[in-house]
Amino acid sequence: MTPRPLKVQPTASPGLDAARFRRALLAWYDAERRDLPWRRTRDPYAIWLSEVMLQQTQVATVIPYWHAFLERFPTVSALAAASDDDVLARWSGLGYYSRARNMLRAARAMVERHDARLPASFEALAALPGVGPYTAAAVASIAFGLPHAVLDGNVARVICRLEALTGDDRTPANRAILAREAERLLAPGRPSDFNQAMMELGALVCTPRSPGCSGCPVATHCQAFHAGDAERYPERASRPKSVAVDWTAVLVELGGRLLLVRSASPGLFTGMWELPWLDRPPQELASGLSLKYGLQVTHPEPFGRVRHTVTYRRITLHCLSARLEPTAVREAGADRRWATPGELGEIGLSSIAAKVLAAWRKHTARAR
Ligand code: ADE
Repeated sequence: MTPRPLKVQPTASPGLDAARFRRALLAWYDAERRDLPWRRTRDPYAIWLSEVMLQQTQVATVIPYWHAFLERFPTVSALAAASDDDVLARWSGLGYYSRARNMLRAARAMVERHDARLPASFEALAALPGVGPYTAAAVASIAFGLPHAVLDGNVARVICRLEALTGDDRTPANRAILAREAERLLAPGRPSDFNQAMMELGALVCTPRSPGCSGCPVATHCQAFHAGDAERYPERASRPKSVAVDWTAVLVELGGRLLLVRSASPGLFTGMWELPWLDRPPQELASGLSLKYGLQVTHPEPFGRVRHTVTYRRITLHCLSARLEPTAVREAGADRRWATPGELGEIGLSSIAAKVLAAWRKHTARAR
């Protein structure tokens, strides 16, 4: 299927009575909303953090990270003063690490421009490094009560169904149409609750598959429900197929310490400490490590395999242990360190590196 424009009626959705729709949605939200920790605070910084963490991560995963991050960095100033390493360590395991780096840059900009506070306008929020329209609208509405509608995947799906909009909801042109619809529907007096109600409806009721139309508080307003074909929306252009790849990670131990490396150049795990790895199969280990890290190893021994998916890649990571060549460089540096087992818990390791270490522990326990 190729991307198609959304088919919108000349007068957008004449059937939808926005006032009645808002009343029904908000009554449901008032009764059914989840008791989430960031809904108990008015602190814009804590709300911003929740919205950034929730963008690519499930609620249940986010909750403990949100608490721990706030405990370590309780204010914009505390975050702005932190090192990249410290922030990445607290993000370790959540994935999409550019979110953490962008938050740090934005916190530093707030110290410079806004007296170490989140600015109370959509425009000033959106002008911060790494803050996109979603986050700016979410913080503006939830933290400051300003009338800006959010549009995330959940909200887009809800609107496509409500108004029976055919076409792929993710193309830029269609996103712009959906953003206008979201603004038109927004309850002007309760923007925070309205936005969260739309996202909550998408997460709990108006789900991608098997939507719960029979329990939906706004089913009577929904064109897709009346046509009995809610699951048809949104219509998606077919995704590029995911690919299976065979990669290799190596564990090099020296005097009870493990070799960790990190890459400053843009890539999958920029800035995270990780075990040396190659986007190559294990047969190419020695030549690949030498080329990529200037690292000479001998005696490779497989100890396990780890599976990990990043965007469209389904990675089978072949895990090997190896010895450093006697003549190889042993010094640590900005992109190379030797970590004790105790230090590993404190370092911002990528999730995939954590999986390899778990496989290693399992292997060594079995060998004993
Ligand atoms: N998804 C992201 N932020 C949310 C929020 N504040 N409420 C419900 N779902 C969300």
